[in-house]
Amino acid sequence: MSTVATPLLNQPREVERLVAGQPTSDGAGVKLNRVLANNLQRRLDPFLMLDHFGTDNPDDYIAGFPDHPHRGFETITYMLNGRMRHRDSAGHEGLISDGGVQWMTAGRGVIHSETPEQNEGRMAGFQLWLNLPAKDKMREPWYRDITGAEVPEFERDGVKVRVIAGESHGVAGAVQREHTEPLYLDLSLAPGARFEQPLPPGFNAFVYVFEGGLKFESGCAVQPGRMAILANTPGSDGVRLQAGDAPTRALLIAGRPLNEPIAQYGPFVMNTEAELVQAVRDFQAGRLA
Ligand code: FE2
Repeated sequence: MSTVATPLLNQPREVERLVAGQPTSDGAGVKLNRVLANNLQRRLDPFLMLDHFGTDNPDDYIAGFPDHPHRGFETITYMLNGRMRHRDSAGHEGLISDGGVQWMTAGRGVIHSETPEQNEGRMAGFQLWLNLPAKDKMREPWYRDITGAEVPEFERDGVKVRVIAGESHGVAGAVQREHTEPLYLDLSLAPGARFEQPLPPGFNAFVYVFEGGLKFESGCAVQPGRMAILANTPGSDGVRLQAGDAPTRALLIAGRPLNEPIAQYGPFVMNTEAELVQAVRDFQAGRLA
């Protein structure tokens, strides 16, 4: 038996563009790197936002995200280190810690808070916003806490893969979604290790490196804090990645675009301006609680 993996892909995608995140703060002053901002919502449809937070300084996170509303999409919080308590207006409460995920469908509306439950040490993770199709924007709110131990994972050729959503190499992720069929992988690659993932060419996809570094066959190198948007080349069949000389961590995220109008006002993401006006009215009248 050969120990060299047979390539799965005939035509891997190229990197279309590298994007540096924007340092910013949100909530009550949580410092973060906004990897996917508003200007990429159309290009990376169905994804609306990706924030990366990671610091050893409690002053950067301690104030958390006090009560705030959402309508029209889903928020997926993935903790690498630390503990975050969430509470919402429907009476749900939960704690996400190392390696765990909170998947929340805001639907027609929810008011929630996200509060660090520690006052020292490292706090690191991600929040991804996934859009909902127009027909589901006003559905009932829903959420699920997934502990670190419940996130399916496997190892292959020096790569540990945590499958938060979708499916990779026959391993089903913790969450599946119709319509957009999101794929959300956390990859830990040994130095020089390679990873391949089939992807339909119509799906929008990107890789975000947060430790080490990745390279593509084209020679394109991706440093930590950078996102590589993958080209939707007709006939392409997936992505092939290789770690550089250091242990490497990266997220690989992909989904089917909704191709619907996107109207956003802060924490509300609908299809039209009129729906945004209605969302603000409903919030002010206490109808999201
Ligand atoms: Fe939130």
